[in-house]
Amino acid sequence: MPSLENISAQQCRWHAYSTTGELEQAAVQTILLAARQAIDLHGAFHIVLAGGTTPRRIYESLRGTKTEWTAWHVYFGDERCLPPDHAERNSRMAALVWLDHVAIPREQIHLIPAQRGAEIAANNYAQTLAGIELFDLVLLGLGEDGHTASLFPGHELGNAPNAPAAIAVFDAPKPPPERVSLSARRLSAARQVMFLVTGEAKRQAVRDWRNGVAIPAAAIAPVSAVDVYLEAALLES
Ligand code: 6PG
Repeated sequence: MPSLENISAQQCRWHAYSTTGELEQAAVQTILLAARQAIDLHGAFHIVLAGGTTPRRIYESLRGTKTEWTAWHVYFGDERCLPPDHAERNSRMAALVWLDHVAIPREQIHLIPAQRGAEIAANNYAQTLAGIELFDLVLLGLGEDGHTASLFPGHELGNAPNAPAAIAVFDAPKPPPERVSLSARRLSAARQVMFLVTGEAKRQAVRDWRNGVAIPAAAIAPVSAVDVYLEAALLES
């Protein structure tokens, strides 16, 4: 487990929804509002996408919405070290259901070059992120073991103040073993952080989180509180 002294006090706002569909629609509206606010504030919207399967229908819904796509800049919270067109790539899922169908300029969709190997890709992506002090919105999932992005229990979380922006992962317990992840420090450098948590399999991780267990998700500590969008059933003991 990560050392507690490196985890600044994370504050959570728990948003419970009775159905997955309601959670997804609420998430879409929150994302669009964040985009509007960011574009009004500084003329662009820098969003970090979550991987895994949970966000898929949210991304599909975004495809049909009206927003200033040309002001969007898309990043990824983590990526699996697989070929760019591999079905298991986080970027592939987002492209198929959403990004390939909206007018975000291609040069504003910043893929993690994970096919180059974790070490080189982490260094490359840290350079890509150098110009962005604060993300406007970071989307994250939650693993059954409390991981988020590719930050796993018992592994380096990158939550020290001088942690690099992106870290190479070689022994991820969730396949594939080789991945690139933004560090907890970099994921915390955001105006807003939104966790998306659905599925019975996440019950124990949610319980641990709410009981103060130092799971990797608890290491994401932006200045503002993090918003956890979850199914209400996961709050029942
Ligand atoms: C990944 C994700 C990972 C994911 C969680 C939840 O590359 O696997 O970044 O952190 O968000 O494991 O995955 P599901 O949404 O599929 O439950």
